[in-house]
Amino acid sequence: MSRLVDRHGRVHRDLRVSLTDRCSLRCTYCMPAQGLPWLPKDTLLSTEELLYLIGVLVDLGIDEVRLTGGEPLLRPDLVDVVAGTAKLGPEVSMTTNALGLDKTATALVEAGLSRVNISLDTLRPETFKALARRNRLDDTLRGIEAAAAAGLTPVKLNTVLMRDINDIEAVDLLAFALEHGYQLRFIEQMPLDAGHTWNREGMVTGEEVLTRLRTVYDLEPLPGRGSAPAERFLVDGGPETVGVIASVSAPFCGACDRIRLTADGQLRNCLFAQGETDLRTPLRDGASDQELADLILECVAGKLPGHGINEPNFLQPPRPMSAIGG
Ligand code: GTP
Ligand code: 5AD
Ligand code: SF4
Repeated sequence: MSRLVDRHGRVHRDLRVSLTDRCSLRCTYCMPAQGLPWLPKDTLLSTEELLYLIGVLVDLGIDEVRLTGGEPLLRPDLVDVVAGTAKLGPEVSMTTNALGLDKTATALVEAGLSRVNISLDTLRPETFKALARRNRLDDTLRGIEAAAAAGLTPVKLNTVLMRDINDIEAVDLLAFALEHGYQLRFIEQMPLDAGHTWNREGMVTGEEVLTRLRTVYDLEPLPGRGSAPAERFLVDGGPETVGVIASVSAPFCGACDRIRLTADGQLRNCLFAQGETDLRTPLRDGASDQELADLILECVAGKLPGHGINEPNFLQPPRPMSAIGG
């Protein structure tokens, strides 16, 4: 039974852990071309510190851990983090851009990784180069194939559509996913880019995506979404599905069961939270498990009912997506 309950009655079982703020790509909706001032090395949690905090969180009721970044594959101790987390009991999954995954997929499976979600915004090399500012489409596709071959299934693909950049590819991306047996999800772009350039007009809404897809496919909504961000649809009667993550136009905060730990040991009760709870300093100062648990419970309790993106006084969180971990 999870003790991680907030004042709105939401029970938290899902922990997202950012392993690094660095990335091998520079997606325009996320990072500037030159990158960002990276977190100082001495603030990053060591493998041991990370696993200790995950252990405390598991004791409080976490049963799913998702490893994110920046790009989690850049973390040199990734296999040890997966193995150590899996040993603590929760299901371990990862969200990645898949660059280099072909080299580590098997070791990650052996360490206890159960599945991966992979970002794929385009199937066109030129668009990939413009969007991710690196010419790495082939490497991404190789990583996706390797994930499926290693049994990291179902492989879910994440696509952020942007107006006049990759929105015309919606149908092609779904055809690709159906052909290979991957579960594609279209994500509304959220105001989390480092440059604060997000605007509502540039965002391709979930409704727009569905309209585009329905010119070719029959889509039937699936019930039983629970706390998942994605609303799923059966494609042409199934069994394949496609998902829409409409975080902005149709927020799912009321069913949220997620908290986040950053690579520098700060606990966030929401992707969009303005504040964070420092767990690194007390951990390094020798706090007891009870003291850490009290800090965690207080952080969760104070979670706001929603992200507030659609309210006039909305403020982007101080950290960008790449440092929060999606
Ligand atoms: P599954 O467990 O496989 O369903 O994963 P997921 O879809 O929750 O995770 P993933 O890392 O693939 O994230 C997909 C998109 O959902 C990304 O754009 C995330 O930023 C977004 N997302 C994940 N969790 C939350 C959340 O709590 N709130 C909001 N607003 N978006 C989220
Ligand atoms: N809005 C929505 N999704 C985003 N992602 C990265 N930045 C944003 C954003 N501003 C996606 C990535 C990845 C997942 C973790 O979040 O494409 O698939
Ligand atoms: Fe890297 Fe993900 Fe940001 Fe792209 S969206 S730059 S892959 S962290």
